[in-house]
Formats: sequence, C-alpha cells, structure tokens
Amino acid sequence: MGQKGRDIVGPDVGDVLSLLNQAVAAEALAAYRYLYLSKWAAGLNSPEIADAFFRTSGEEWQHMSLLMERVIELGGRPLTRPSDWETNSYVKYYEPPKDQSDLKTMLEDSLAVERVAIEFYRDLVRKTEGKDLVTYHLAMQLLADEVKDEEYLEKILQGWK
Ligand SMILES: [Fe+2]
Ligand SMILES: [Fe+2]
Repeated sequence: MGQKGRDIVGPDVGDVLSLLNQAVAAEALAAYRYLYLSKWAAGLNSPEIADAFFRTSGEEWQHMSLLMERVIELGGRPLTRPSDWETNSYVKYYEPPKDQSDLKTMLEDSLAVERVAIEFYRDLVRKTEGKDLVTYHLAMQLLADEVKDEEYLEKILQGWK
C-alpha cells in the first residue's frame, strides 16, 4: 500500500498492526488445531464432523492469509516465528483432548475459541470504523465467518446426547 493508503489510517496504525498480528497468531493456531482435530476425530462415527473440522481449518488458514496481507499493506511485518503464535494470539490454545473419541470436548473448546474470535473481530470493527476502512471491511468479513462457525458448532452440540 502506498503512502496515502497508510496516511488515512492515521496514528492508530501501530495499534491496528498489533491487533492484526494477534489475529494472525490466533488464526494460525485455529487452522492447525482444526486440521489436527479432523485427523484425530477421523475414523470414529463422525465423518461429517471430521470433514467440518477439515473445511474450517482451510477457512482459518485463509483468514490468516488475508490478515498477513493487511499487515504488509500497512507497512508492518507479520509474525515471523511459529513460536510467536501462542504468545501473541488473542485466545489461548486449546490442546486437543487425549481421548480420540471425546468429540464433545473438541466441539466445546472450538465453540469457546470461536466466541472469543467473534468478540475480537467485533472490537476490531469498532476500532477501525470510519478510520481504517480496509481493515474495517476485512474485520467485518472475518466476523461474519466466525459467526457462522459458532452457529454450526452450537447446532451440533445442541443435538448432543
Ligand atoms: Fe478465523
Ligand atoms: Fe472460525
């Protein structure tokens, strides 16, 4: 992004970059965790859930891609090390349960992560509204995706015996 594009973001650009990198970290953890769960839960009586974990992993990875692009456009540097992910993420990492058949914990922990994501992107929308319109638009888009993820997980858990 050019000078003007950065200028219109104003003095908050440092804050926005820090928030974007927290999101890069969280999305990387989420993508890894969902991929892990898709394999860990596979072979059980749950091919649809394993498939949903797999698809969601791809979406979270795509979120990370968009966030990294935005960091660079704003003149920042995306986190350079995977070891930064856990320390910078806006949400803690939920380690997959030891018991491979414990789908309920996998789903509940995923729901907890999605809910924190919803709050985080809602706050980013508020912070950038009327100022940094490109980040604002991105945050709205990610917010909408996380809302869908929450809805899916809630629905599955509601039907749980
Ligand atoms: Fe995401
Ligand atoms: Fe999500």
